[in-house]
Amino acid sequence: MTSEARKSIHGTWTGKWTFILAAAGSAVGLGNIWKFPYMAGEYGGGAFVLVYLVCILLIGVPIMIAEILLGRRGRRSPANTMAYLAVEARAFPQWKYLGMMGAVAGLLILSFYSVAAGWAFAYIFEEFNGTSAEYYGQEFDSFLKDETRLIFFHSIFIFATIFIVARGVIKGIEIWINRLMPILFIIIVLLCVYATQTGAFFEGVSYLFTPDFSKINAKVILAALGQAFFTLSLGMGAIMAYGAYMPANQNIGSTALYVAFLDTLVALLAGIAIFPIVFANNLEPAVGPGLVFVTLPWAFVNMPLGIIFGKLFFVLLTIAALSSAISLLEPGVAWIVESLKIKRYIAAAGLGFIAWTLGIFSALSFDLLAGFTPIGDKNFFDSLDFLSNQVLLPLGGIFIAIFVGWVMKRSDVFEELNLKEGLVLKAWFFLLKFVSPLVVGLIFVLAVFFGVVT
Ligand code: PHE
Repeated sequence: MTSEARKSIHGTWTGKWTFILAAAGSAVGLGNIWKFPYMAGEYGGGAFVLVYLVCILLIGVPIMIAEILLGRRGRRSPANTMAYLAVEARAFPQWKYLGMMGAVAGLLILSFYSVAAGWAFAYIFEEFNGTSAEYYGQEFDSFLKDETRLIFFHSIFIFATIFIVARGVIKGIEIWINRLMPILFIIIVLLCVYATQTGAFFEGVSYLFTPDFSKINAKVILAALGQAFFTLSLGMGAIMAYGAYMPANQNIGSTALYVAFLDTLVALLAGIAIFPIVFANNLEPAVGPGLVFVTLPWAFVNMPLGIIFGKLFFVLLTIAALSSAISLLEPGVAWIVESLKIKRYIAAAGLGFIAWTLGIFSALSFDLLAGFTPIGDKNFFDSLDFLSNQVLLPLGGIFIAIFVGWVMKRSDVFEELNLKEGLVLKAWFFLLKFVSPLVVGLIFVLAVFFGVVT
């Protein structure tokens, strides 16, 4: 049966644009505005950005196409989609574990994602009256030690995520994303305009786009690869879950390109806005997760109408994070609703509670639990971040590529894509079948070999 004849029990997006908006809503989030700039700063600027862009294009886009395709063909939650498609392909039923692992990875990510989203949330209420960029550095450091505030904002954020997923992603999402995302985009462009006035615009931009090849090593490559998966929401079933709600007549290939383009654009613009401020104020690019929270408030203080833009920016960043967070919870919730036949709000509350509890450990990991370092010298927050982004997502990606490239019937794959046989289709299939699993596999081996973890 083709996906045309089947519908997901969770609904179908009403319009062609809704899938793109929902997938872009999932992709564009803290990964672009918070994580991309600080990782670029930590891993050597242009060298990291170059590897990242190559990973997006050669690995990310092909896998995104594969993930949407799986979801739409299965029309179920990722776990049940994989179970169903394994039967269709007469493959091992164990493929369903790939979908289940994704749901678990989603909860792990949600737990610390929500803590970082809480930072953006808390910054809506910041005063923005500091007199130096360093001032905001100290503010952020003391904020990380304020457990009550961290847990408070983390809790509200998870609650909002549960609320939307409980109502059903389709109803929950369609309403806001299409109105709010464009405003966020405009503010980022405004920040880029401000960056041209800092006096260090070219220094900032060339830091991002001039690769120093000597800085590329196994650690940088693994980090860029993990970030490519994370920013595109790949490897854990978020995009697969959303693909299940995609209308049958929509073109998967062009949709994936569109989402990847938007996502990359927002990340690069965020970098272009932030690094000139870093250099104009003699700040360190490698300060880590606090980077946006130190640089942007200082930009807002200096901009005309900056206070208003500042508040609006953090409101929108919180909403962008929310539209990503719901896609982290959805694969697990859809799976439980289908398999246990329980109400959606119960599934959402139950899984959300697990993520909330884990998140408490992340919230405490900057001060009270700073000595607790499960992986290498990383605290709990950083360990979960590392485990999910640099291990679980790429691993999920390898298996998705193998399933679509090697296990499914070629005719089923091509039927779902609905593209004429031609160069583009061949190129995609080649990248998916050979390049993605081999390159990602090789990066893993290198990473273990060079002891990236410890
Ligand atoms: N892509 C989201 C971001 O950049 C995070 C995310 C990862 C969402 C994985 C869903 C799945 O913020």
